[in-house]
Amino acid sequence: MTANWLLALQERVWGLAPWDAKKISDEWFRAHFEYAADVVHHWVGGVLDMPTAKFLNFGCGDGITDLSLVLRHGATAIHGVDIRREYAKLPRIAREQLGMRRIPSALTFETITPGAPLAGKRDLVDGIMSWSTFEHVQRDQLAAIFADLYACLRPGGYFFIQIEPLFYSPFGSHLRRYDDVPWHHLLASEDELWKVVQSHEGPIDAAEVDFGFADFGVDGYKKFVFNEYLALNRLTADELVAVTTQAGFHVVRQERRHVELEIPAALQGKYPDELLRNNEIFLLLGK
Ligand SMILES: C[S@@+](CC[C@H](N)C(=O)[O-])C[C@H]1O[C@@H](n2cnc3c(N)ncnc32)[C@H](O)[C@@H]1O
Repeated sequence: MTANWLLALQERVWGLAPWDAKKISDEWFRAHFEYAADVVHHWVGGVLDMPTAKFLNFGCGDGITDLSLVLRHGATAIHGVDIRREYAKLPRIAREQLGMRRIPSALTFETITPGAPLAGKRDLVDGIMSWSTFEHVQRDQLAAIFADLYACLRPGGYFFIQIEPLFYSPFGSHLRRYDDVPWHHLLASEDELWKVVQSHEGPIDAAEVDFGFADFGVDGYKKFVFNEYLALNRLTADELVAVTTQAGFHVVRQERRHVELEIPAALQGKYPDELLRNNEIFLLLGK
């Protein structure tokens, strides 16, 4: 990736590189550039001033959502952190999907060690966002990470978290691209699930194929996605609220979404209906 100071200099001379959303051909890109960014903006843009606020994106992935927040919603400072380096692909992705030759200098990225503290390394931020990440964080690290993020946020700042799908919901395994039987992960053994994934043939939903797919290949991606399933922390919406408020945050607003599918007899009474149907949480926290 080009050094940020160089991007900033080029931007000062030539302005922001031109981009064109009509060039978008990839559905994963579109889902993040349009839907995810719009939702984040809807929740965060209402409480913070996008052009002046400094943001931290925890679990930024490939950074597509951050790019959109800058290009379409006026953000000027987003620092993305992640334990993987998918964001290193962003310049190429922006070139391919938007015809954009340089990513904005408003974006900076950092690879972190899981659970390593961030507080004290940079100035306090006005806002933190995290999209589809906290179900992947090791459960025993959650409390410390939320305490650390609390310390990264300025008093009066906001933290927006989205998780979908929640583990106990019909497709909470994150395996839907290979297995569309609702709640299969709560009904079948690990071996049975792996066999379903392994034997899957044909295309998978393009909106669920991230830019890592090309690195892994068809079989490697199956293994990667299945390992991600095994590593899910099974966090519920209630647990998320409990662990974040224990870290010091207060709930400003939340929305929980539910699916109206018939619960299989084998699961009825085994788990609360509310838990089985709740597939998404949007949580806006304050400090
Ligand atoms: C499903 S991806 C979502 C990425 C991005 N937010 C998006 O919407 O495309 C989950 C991300 O969480 C990251 N992640 C998992 N555990 C993490 C941790 N302890 N700290 C930071 N990032 C983490 C993963 O590397 C991955 O990029």
